[in-house]
Amino acid sequence: MEFSIKRTSPEKQRSACVVVGVFESRKLTGAAALIDEAANHYLSDIVRRGDMDGKAGSTRLLHDVPSTRCDRVLLVGLGKEKEFGDKEYGAAIRSAFKALNETGAADGTLFLTETGVKKRSLAWRIRQAAIIAQETAYRFEQFKSKRNEVRHPLRKVIFAIDRSDELALAEEALAQGLAIAEGVALARNLGNLPGNVCTPGYLAETALELAREHALECQILERANMEALGMHSLLSVAKGSHQPPKLIVLHYLGGAQDEKPLVLVGKGITFDSGGISLKPGLEMDEMKFDMCGAASVLGTLKAVAQMKLPLNLTVLVPTSENMPGGAASKPGDIVTSMSGQTIEILNTDAEGRLVLCDALTYAERFKPETVIDVATLTGACVIALGHVASGLFANREGLARDLLHAGEEAYDRAWHLPLWDEYQDLLKSNFADMANIGGRAGGSISAACFLSRFTGKFDWAHLDIAGTAWKSGADKGATGRPVPLLTHYLLKRAGKLI
Ligand code: BES
Ligand code: MN
Ligand code: ZN
Repeated sequence: MEFSIKRTSPEKQRSACVVVGVFESRKLTGAAALIDEAANHYLSDIVRRGDMDGKAGSTRLLHDVPSTRCDRVLLVGLGKEKEFGDKEYGAAIRSAFKALNETGAADGTLFLTETGVKKRSLAWRIRQAAIIAQETAYRFEQFKSKRNEVRHPLRKVIFAIDRSDELALAEEALAQGLAIAEGVALARNLGNLPGNVCTPGYLAETALELAREHALECQILERANMEALGMHSLLSVAKGSHQPPKLIVLHYLGGAQDEKPLVLVGKGITFDSGGISLKPGLEMDEMKFDMCGAASVLGTLKAVAQMKLPLNLTVLVPTSENMPGGAASKPGDIVTSMSGQTIEILNTDAEGRLVLCDALTYAERFKPETVIDVATLTGACVIALGHVASGLFANREGLARDLLHAGEEAYDRAWHLPLWDEYQDLLKSNFADMANIGGRAGGSISAACFLSRFTGKFDWAHLDIAGTAWKSGADKGATGRPVPLLTHYLLKRAGKLI
């Protein structure tokens, strides 16, 4: 899909479809009112007769509206004007694109980004609209022998603005939105790939490709390299699998040479069977999504590189399968992590923290400004927060605040959970420095506490995306979260959040 920004008026715009909003109070938005005036109250008559009630998410397609130059007008219900916030705006844009895709229109001009949203700027409205447009157009059909052909695909989208002095700003916001959308799409594609395709080796190839495409530095650490570094915790997870583990290291250098990097670490378990502590069979296929943390940090890197943000960003992906096998780690096994701390593996299904802890120790060598890890870490996080918010933990209050704020801004929200000392006691082991599980109560917190023991040397945050990285049921598929949250955080840090 091709996107552009144009200063234009709705009644004069030549287009296969012009899209305008109507509030529940039956009040027409500015653009709708202009068409209405030109068309001798055609729209207000429809609204008055009750054929469009302005309810949030409703749409009404009109043909040959008098005195316009477009083939169609799509009315989109915006709900109550007083309540028109982030959620309502997103829903309106989403329904507009869904409806547009169902028409025969090859191009559309949207006058929805002109409508004010509480506390949000024009740039925000354009950026979000671009992200949502691409999200609704997303398909993952590479393994279907018969693709669902869209008969009349939407090819061109114009976001209309009403002041020409805002053109440059709107264009920049559009470029940001499209870059973020590409990052989201990469994360979704990687997440949706089956475990027999998306192996640790496949993720490494993807990283090398990203590096070629965006001139990044890339290094893949193999089993022998990890052995030499003493990453026995990470390696213990791979022992039951025939797939060799990898540690992917990518550097994007957009900032000053001496500027400390920000490091993102993504859990890359390409399939989590649980290992010897085998998971139950129900929905086990969804454990192919256990690399969505990795997918999201790669997607974020892609977006950052495309936006050419002035900062230094390093991405680390510890990746492995977690399988049962003759050589697999067993409950009770004790391993020494790269940090020197010993770990008693009481449950081989708590493998995410085992691969992450060595990657976090490895991050120390980059003298990072901040480290953020992203992981589908605990089922307990799904119980706590459902599928709405990601779990957020941090060893610095300010960092937690900035990430929460980025999540609000991106409508990709997180919720702050505690890392108090009392919870650390859950990880006591009779035989090693710590156990890898802390029991069922507070399961997400004890997992985060485990990670915190490897993050003493830097500012650190952890995002548990077990409930947000993918959807189950009829809409099963990766969401690309938290790419929007992370990219907004980085945009802000780079001083480019417009
Ligand atoms: N990848 C899972 C977490 C998960 C489970 C995410 C279900 C999304 C849905 C993780 O490796 C895991 O198995 N965690 C265990 C930890 C437990 C053994 C302490 C869990 O959550 O059950
Ligand atoms: Mn597991
Ligand atoms: Zn897992």
